[in-house]
Amino acid sequence: MWVVLIASVVVLVFTKWVHSWRRLKHYEKLPKGSMGFPLLGENLDFLTPHSSFDIAPFIETRMVRYGPIFRTNLMGRRAIVSTDTNLNHLIFQEEGNLFRSWYPDRLTKIFGRQNILSMHGQNFKSLKNMIINLYGIESMKKMVREVEASTKTRLRRWSTRNMIDLKDETATMIFDFTSKKLISYDRESSSENLRENFDVFIKGLISLPLNFPGTAHHKCRQGRKRTMKMLKNMLQERQANPRKQHNDFFDYVLEELEKHGTLLTQEMALDLMFFLLFASFETTSLALTLAIKFLVDHPRVLTELTVEHEGILKNRDKADSGLTWAEYKSMTFTFQFINETLRLGNVAPLIFREALKDVEYKGFVIPAGWIVVPSLSAVHLNPENYVDPLTFNPWRWEKSDGGASKHLMAFGGGLRFCFGAEFVKLQIAVFLHSLLTSYKFEAIKGGNIIRVPGLQFPDGFHVQITEKSLCK
Ligand code: HEM
Ligand SMILES: *[C@@H]1O[C@H](CO)[C@@H](O)[C@H](O)[C@H]1NC(C)=O
Repeated sequence: MWVVLIASVVVLVFTKWVHSWRRLKHYEKLPKGSMGFPLLGENLDFLTPHSSFDIAPFIETRMVRYGPIFRTNLMGRRAIVSTDTNLNHLIFQEEGNLFRSWYPDRLTKIFGRQNILSMHGQNFKSLKNMIINLYGIESMKKMVREVEASTKTRLRRWSTRNMIDLKDETATMIFDFTSKKLISYDRESSSENLRENFDVFIKGLISLPLNFPGTAHHKCRQGRKRTMKMLKNMLQERQANPRKQHNDFFDYVLEELEKHGTLLTQEMALDLMFFLLFASFETTSLALTLAIKFLVDHPRVLTELTVEHEGILKNRDKADSGLTWAEYKSMTFTFQFINETLRLGNVAPLIFREALKDVEYKGFVIPAGWIVVPSLSAVHLNPENYVDPLTFNPWRWEKSDGGASKHLMAFGGGLRFCFGAEFVKLQIAVFLHSLLTSYKFEAIKGGNIIRVPGLQFPDGFHVQITEKSLCK
């Protein structure tokens, strides 16, 4: 008797829920698409790995079936996916007005409630101003020499080994560099292995959210916990000894925290440090590794880049006088190459937004409260934007005018345009400069890519690096 009653209540609730699921507001004006299964939505398709430079099959098949803007269900939310260049552009421009940044609950939990991704309005602006202090152009100008020195030290070390995993080693190089800048972290003298904490953190980010010992998700949370504890201890230690200067970014953040009338809270400061430590090394090392992979596959590009960088040395009075900002700015072909690497590489293939109001576009309605997923790769691989989009061709940027900027959204756009963009470009350019002027390299194994949907090198990318003078 009870069983029957409970069962019928369950069935009733379920059918009512499915019914409301089907009954969509603005039905006639919604973009076409399928909402998948209740609860699951289309998550499984969305998260299916693929291993090409082309648009993800999840998006490609739906573009063909439904058109460039379609509806779906992702992460428990009704969603509109946009592969439309102009709509994506509009979404960036309307940040905070028609749309705003949105991330899955789980990510917000893992990154902390006060992390920059979940910030809007005034709080976002004050964090942004602080980050510009470290990653803005003015700071980059001062950083050229340091980046060059750190790159040269690594290359020298790597050239004494038979081979190195470029993905892993560049990640370590950039992590050591930025963690020193951010918190004066020094691996040798610290009891906490920060890099390892972040490795398990990243591995668990896209895992199933099963939180018990042994799962990737559990390790991810532990990695976050250990790092946050370390940052918190560091903060308390510094607050207890306010006169001791470290000359790093954390000192500056703590100064801001002390200021009268500041919006910054301790929790925001700690989440910010965590986010920056995370954001700076994994993405940059992916882009750097991709860049070298493209060079291996395109010898003509390698030749032209080498000519450009050797030319810089030839134009100097003293060949070893160190890279200047002016020289960096003169690397014309290098910047074409970087744009092309970002375009075809699609390190960040998509981003997430939430519609704040009903938005009409080309006869469609994007209802308020739905999430919106602009596909950046679809813009980068659209034959209307780029001739022969799957071909790696840095020369296509030779004639680039201001208009092209609308078609390259690798770093996003508008208010939330990537704060690390200058750093990434500087790091890649300086790395190429040091590598191509003094070393030869050869791919040994690995280098396969996979996208889930973020880019990964599952087997790393193993290369051998040898000093040029030694191989003549
Ligand atoms: C190749 C490397 C990188 C790529 C492709 C990339 C891509 C992006 C994209 C697409 C966005 C926009 C996100 C959105 O609008 O929702 C973004 C934002 C951001 N990126 Fe990057 N990024 C890279 C490296 C970095 C680095 C090295 C840092 C250093 C700290 C960084 C820090 C940030 C920050 C702070 C934001 C703003 C987040 C927000 O608005 O909530 N990124 N990045
Ligand atoms: C690279 O792309 C950016 C953004 O689209 C653009 O402003 C810049 O001119 C491009 N650089 C080159 C060398 O084409």
